[in-house]
Amino acid sequence: MPQRPYIVGNWKMNGTRAMLSEARAIDRAAQRLMKVEVAVAPPYTLLHAVHREAAQIAVGAQDCHPGQEGAHTGDISAGMLADAGAKFVILGHSERRESHAESNSCVQEKALAALDAGMRIIMCCGEADKIRQSGKAEDFVIQQLRESLPTLENAAENLTVAYEPIWAIGTGNSATVGDVSAMHTAIRALLVELYGVEEGAEVRILYGGSVNPENARELLSADEVGGALVGGASLTADSFMGIALAAAEIQDS
Ligand code: PGA
Repeated sequence: MPQRPYIVGNWKMNGTRAMLSEARAIDRAAQRLMKVEVAVAPPYTLLHAVHREAAQIAVGAQDCHPGQEGAHTGDISAGMLADAGAKFVILGHSERRESHAESNSCVQEKALAALDAGMRIIMCCGEADKIRQSGKAEDFVIQQLRESLPTLENAAENLTVAYEPIWAIGTGNSATVGDVSAMHTAIRALLVELYGVEEGAEVRILYGGSVNPENARELLSADEVGGALVGGASLTADSFMGIALAAAEIQDS
């Protein structure tokens, strides 16, 4: 891992104020692992409180609306998230693409809005099991990213990509190291094409999908893996920081 590894917890629709103690424990443990960048994306309702109580780690959101303000009941703009303390936003997660019918162009609009509000982006991509079985996973993911990524001049420096095969999310079946390396290498080539050799090489590419403290070391050691986007295992400080520790040990080895 050439860059500082980035370990991000996606709490999804989990967590009430009772979870703030986990956030504080993550924050304390992260201060002892300075070689690793640790961040958490709690639900909107906890964003401000986590930002206040876990001051050392970055806090982010799980989605934003492409507009700045207006008559959009139930939606939240990137500017509002930044105002609540969010430093980044996860965009294009497969759960949003599926259950909210988010198209690539809709995800791209959100990315532009987030950059405009001064936020960093974690852009998710990943194929369904059927596509993997058909042998077209790489083509699918590259096309998805081509249509979802923002191509502004300042985009690469504020961008992280997360490869999350849909069949690996929340199933306990993570992808194989070989499949992860191959996909990340293809994504790297696209980033270099879109943003240039230097900028494209700097963008971290995270793996997500059933990462846990037991498999983290192997997955995080794979070629072109710059960290992990973690769902279920990010809900307790113990398991989440077990993953961050694995990343730190790889840095040391
Ligand atoms: P998981 O979720 O770690 O529970 O598989 C990952 C994600 O959806 O970001």
